[in-house]
Amino acid sequence: MPNIVVVGTQWGDEGKGKVVDMLAPHVNVVARFAGGNNAGHTVVVGREKYVLHSIPSGILHPGCRCVIGCGVVVDPGSLIEEMEALVRRGVQLDGNLFISKNAHLIMPYHPALDLASEAKLGKRRIGTTGRGVGPAYVDKAARVGIRMADLLNERLFREKLELNVAQKNRLLREIYDAETFTVEVAPYITDTALLLSRWMEAGYSVMFEGAQATMLDIDHGTYPYITSSSTTAGGACTGTGVPPTKIHGVVGVSKAYTTRVGGGPFPTEMTGAIAETIRARGHEYGATTGRPRRCGWFDAVVGRYATRINGLDTVALTKLDVLDQCETLKVCVAYRHRGETLTDFPEDETVVAAAEPIYEEIEGWRAPTAGAKNEADLPAKARRYLERLEELIGTRFCLISTGAQRDETILCEDSPLTRWFPSVRSSLM
Ligand code: GDP
Ligand code: IMO
Ligand code: MG
Repeated sequence: MPNIVVVGTQWGDEGKGKVVDMLAPHVNVVARFAGGNNAGHTVVVGREKYVLHSIPSGILHPGCRCVIGCGVVVDPGSLIEEMEALVRRGVQLDGNLFISKNAHLIMPYHPALDLASEAKLGKRRIGTTGRGVGPAYVDKAARVGIRMADLLNERLFREKLELNVAQKNRLLREIYDAETFTVEVAPYITDTALLLSRWMEAGYSVMFEGAQATMLDIDHGTYPYITSSSTTAGGACTGTGVPPTKIHGVVGVSKAYTTRVGGGPFPTEMTGAIAETIRARGHEYGATTGRPRRCGWFDAVVGRYATRINGLDTVALTKLDVLDQCETLKVCVAYRHRGETLTDFPEDETVVAAAEPIYEEIEGWRAPTAGAKNEADLPAKARRYLERLEELIGTRFCLISTGAQRDETILCEDSPLTRWFPSVRSSLM
């Protein structure tokens, strides 16, 4: 059974939640491998909308087991809130949710440190979600972090907490009461790397759900304007304890345009009325913080980079419908920097910041795409746009999403996705 990684190819919010939810009935397990409750993954089912932050987007399917891997940082208070809200809406967690013993905790001093650090950075601030994700990974790397397993050992937990509090006591006003959340999350804490290995041996298929995206990766993103974890495909291994030899393919998720929340370079950022129009049509406001997302044209330099860094086999393209009314579309094919044409994404942050996009203009289709069932039903000019994007990023699309609903999805002919999961086609009929 295939084990597949799903990752964002841009700066996040590409529609990973929709894609993972849509594919979840065709796998046995969905495992989150990076990030924390900085993520906001939206799943729309009819009139119901769910925004998942720490829990994998497979949780709405009763037969799908969901794992929070060791690469994730968990804020127990926020997790419990999310769990309770799901249970209130009839979602079954018992027997379906498994949390790694090795996942690090986001403690109350972490958001405090996050905000303090942002305030200090002034105009160089990152624009974090303020959830304490960065400082939690700092403690993990500094080897003073507290892990889920520590919640199960009161003595060890106290010891580690006291050490941390002593270090951070200028910020921390009160000792943390861990007991309340320990009772609620303890039944879900387990050795998830061992479980995943056993499940795969039994023939289960696992989908690794990425959070954030390629350009926010700690090593491969637009440092320092990134998040603090390995959000690219390689992170699926370290973030769950599954070896690379067990992974069969990688699916990128990309918007038909680009968005970014927070600070940092964004070569194809739109200005003026068009940015407002796309933001309004795409409802481009953060699913976690509600901040307006910065909007930009499709950047094929970023697309090619994501293909290379993640080894993408295929891409799920989302939000095509948002471009339906545009007269002309722009696609960035390369950057210009000091008279030079760059077709590969530059590693140097000063080059990215100064890069000027070289655009190709493509005529808009000015017709609705939502509801199309096949690629052939799409307006010819929309098909041309898609073909050009595929050509530029060097990867074929496996699905085209034209709305937030599960069935507002076109499956492309002959893609790795339908080879891995043949039942996807009949589920969309
Ligand atoms: P994620 O973080 O990658 O899971 O993405 P978000 O949930 O933060 O943002 C994507 C938003 O676009 C959500 O509100 C989705 O419901 C919505 N969405 C997903 N696919 C489509 C699509 O094809 N068209 C439209 N109009 N909305 C979509
Ligand atoms: P999903 O999974 C978009 C951005 C923040 C900020 C930077 C660092 O929904 O795609 P952090 O709080 O992680 O230290 O903030 O990363 N960021 C996201 N942007 N989608 C996300 O998640 C994000 N998670 C973090 O806006 O620029
Ligand atoms: Mg999101």
